[in-house]
Amino acid sequence: MRKSVPSNRDRSTAGIRAETAAQSPADPETLRSFVTGRRVLVGVTGGIAAYKACTIVSRLAQGGADVTVAMTEAATRFVTPLTFQSLSGAPVYTSAWDQIESKDPQHISLARSLDLAIVAPATMDCLAKLATGRTDDVVSLILSAIERASTPVVLAPAMNDIMWSQKSTQRNVKQLVEDGFYMIGPGEGWQACRTIGTGRMSEPEEILGAIRRFFDRPKSPAAKPRKK
Ligand SMILES: Cc1cc2nc3c(=O)[nH]c(=O)nc-3n(C[C@H](O)[C@H](O)[C@H](O)COP(=O)(O)O)c2cc1C
Repeated sequence: MRKSVPSNRDRSTAGIRAETAAQSPADPETLRSFVTGRRVLVGVTGGIAAYKACTIVSRLAQGGADVTVAMTEAATRFVTPLTFQSLSGAPVYTSAWDQIESKDPQHISLARSLDLAIVAPATMDCLAKLATGRTDDVVSLILSAIERASTPVVLAPAMNDIMWSQKSTQRNVKQLVEDGFYMIGPGEGWQACRTIGTGRMSEPEEILGAIRRFFDRPKSPAAKPRKK
């Protein structure tokens, strides 16, 4: 069974339900109540749905979260790092080799400081890398240094429905869940390849709702060193 983001109603249900409009987690007031002061990594990998990550980053930043964006090289083909820098108000990690943090190695100190990480969109390639422990881009490298027992890592896959249904992808998803990653989506609907199928990334609203549910839980007793 897939390990899905905890739901208020039914934790065993795969995926999550959208919040009602009245409880919208994307509403600035609501967001502020649960993300202020939280350190969140948004990893962006190379899929069309990268544009939806802009909304996630913007809403988190408006809610007072300390948002760091990391992008794979492929992701920068879809949305520029400058867009995420402007939305988050912070430098964007696009390479393991460019030092953004003064601390060395920077991916370790960043990983330790996080309250939650989300990868949206998570490509087929990203799922394969994470399922096999590869770390050859800055997103997978940062994730490799996160202690998932205390810091949730949520993956929001997004891909064409045939890519999603490949045995390799399904095998990787199963492995990732067994390894303690949380999955949100994908949903069904219109895809960039102009077909309707399963593989569409969950909407920002749903993803923000999932983040909220993690932050509604009691904090892990293991204190994390704060970045600032
Ligand atoms: C126009 C275009 C759109 C793509 N969209 C997706 C996508 O939605 N999901 C996906 O898994 N791969 C998609 N790909 C393929 C990835 O970009 C490719 O596998 C890349 O190597 C992923 O690298 P990354 O995982 O390091 O970001 C797309 C490629 C192109 C050229």
